[in-house]
Amino acid sequence: MNYINDRRSIRKYKPQIVDKKLIDEILNAAILAPSAKNRQPWKFIVYSETTKDEVLAEMEKGLLKTKEKLKNIPNSEYIFSDAFNTLRIMREAPTIIMVLNTNGSSPFADIDTFARMTEICDSLSIGAAIENMLLKATELGLGTLWIANTSYAYNELVSYIGTSAQLIGAVALGYADEAPSPRPRKGLDEVVEYR
Ligand SMILES: Cc1cc2nc3c(=O)[nH]c(=O)nc-3n(C[C@H](O)[C@H](O)[C@H](O)COP(=O)(O)O)c2cc1C
Repeated sequence: MNYINDRRSIRKYKPQIVDKKLIDEILNAAILAPSAKNRQPWKFIVYSETTKDEVLAEMEKGLLKTKEKLKNIPNSEYIFSDAFNTLRIMREAPTIIMVLNTNGSSPFADIDTFARMTEICDSLSIGAAIENMLLKATELGLGTLWIANTSYAYNELVSYIGTSAQLIGAVALGYADEAPSPRPRKGLDEVVEYR
């Protein structure tokens, strides 16, 4: 099986819950990722079908607040219809894993160039961990969605989670109730230059 080819973003889930053993396998794959200076700046908070309602209610509050605040920016309508659609998907998925950067500060903080460079490296490390999760889940017959729309409810989510770490995003996890075709990709001719 080629899990890189088979992985898809899944936006429809069956109600079937995911066994903790499988979630642990996925998180074990996450922590095998490389990280800048081996800092391993990740933390994962798993919300199950019994605990995710409250955190998602906070996300809804945050999205509504930010939508009102940003109603005049270009593309606001598209941004928030997409964000609310993501919330709907998160409500359907039986497991939501919030992903934090334990070394990061709030995106609203004024940080210097050195701190920003460190943060870029930590974000990349966490991206590698998330990709490992998605590929392991594919191998285990599970569907995933990598989510960044949590950022439109940033303050509400970190306050509910009760953390001073930086919220990077979330991963929705469950049994897929759809089998999407591959989404388009740019060709190598568009993205690669041999010099
Ligand atoms: C950093 C990142 C954030 C994303 N955030 C969201 C999101 O909030 N909601 C959503 O529906 N999809 C989200 N996606 C999924 C992308 O839309 C998806 O990966 C892309 O369209 C390609 O489709 P594929 O994953 O099926 O190949 C995100 C993906 C990445 C890598």
